[in-house]
Amino acid sequence: MSVSRLSERLPDFPWDLLAPAKRVAAAHPGGLVDLSMGTPVDPVPAVVRAALTEASDSPGYPLTAGTPALRAAIAEWAARNCGALADGLGVLPTIGSKELVAWLPTLLGIGPGDTVVIPTVCYPTYEVGVRLAGATPVRTDSLTSLGPARVRLVWVNSPSNPTGQVLPAAHLRKVVEWARERGAVVASDECYLTLGWESTPISVLSPEVNSGRLDGVLAVHSLSKRSNLAGYRAGFVAGDPAIVSELLAVRKHGGLIVPAPVQAAMVVALGDEDHATVQRSVYAARRGVLRDALAKAGFEIEHSGAGLYLWATRDEDSWATADWFAERGILVAPGAFYGPAGERHVRVALTATDERVAAAVERLEI
Ligand SMILES: Cc1ncc(COP(=O)(O)O)c(C=O)c1O
Repeated sequence: MSVSRLSERLPDFPWDLLAPAKRVAAAHPGGLVDLSMGTPVDPVPAVVRAALTEASDSPGYPLTAGTPALRAAIAEWAARNCGALADGLGVLPTIGSKELVAWLPTLLGIGPGDTVVIPTVCYPTYEVGVRLAGATPVRTDSLTSLGPARVRLVWVNSPSNPTGQVLPAAHLRKVVEWARERGAVVASDECYLTLGWESTPISVLSPEVNSGRLDGVLAVHSLSKRSNLAGYRAGFVAGDPAIVSELLAVRKHGGLIVPAPVQAAMVVALGDEDHATVQRSVYAARRGVLRDALAKAGFEIEHSGAGLYLWATRDEDSWATADWFAERGILVAPGAFYGPAGERHVRVALTATDERVAAAVERLEI
């Protein structure tokens, strides 16, 4: 039997390409400092673990739409953190946000002949999602350069992974207006929204951006970073109620359901800002010391006003910089992972323990 291989449409899995640098870095006598992936290392908050345990006797199928308690918790969180008007907001839990990013074009019926706009330098899964759907990705930050392409979806990501750039309200408003004129959807990946440092991110759900209307806008959120829940797979999408109900209709058929204990844990995580404030200050401290150490080692930090990464350059090929770090036992992500325009930067993640961050700082001083 011959199997037509969908994976051939997809780029190389970037992290596989980093294996040689990882071998070099891991051989450092002081051990590896892994600043390559944004994977949380601090504990899951005790209140969230208790909620998961409490809900562990869950023999029945969960609701794809989410329990009423979860739907309310999402709407309240979005009102507090995104300025979303509670009235009429569509909400839907997702199994983390990566699956939604990877399948959104397909779930929206986007396919061959359609164009999806993604940021010039961005999280690789936007392109993966477009390719899975058989549509055409276009990398641009300026919609006016697009010409007559049939654009169905525009991804924005503020604060950005990998650059930490924050898009101002006026920019997002223009994107929303441009998309509405053409009947395209704006999907705003906001999973670092609550991690603003020098810049204050704004949500596409804010009336300042969407003019008090939800048509054509979706905000994508994740509890992975805010609440250290990457292992639980907990995210949600909120916005235009008609689009969200279409996503629900397709996801019900597709079995894309958040497990019941995770839904219960999400209710508690979303309702509790205390643990998120503590976690935020942990990242702020790590960011401060890493930023200073990188500057002293001769790196320029660009953007990085929010989010979990420092976007650093010394104006050489990103693989050469990654090798320089690897020789010091530090693994960082080459900017080339994020698009051709990232080829002279590296992304340094703030997600390592204080002890490992201190080790990195010490090695950068030598
Ligand atoms: C911009 C962006 N979107 C989505 C995700 C996916 O996060 P998760 O699937 O853990 O919610 C990530 C993870 O790093 C990310 O950086």
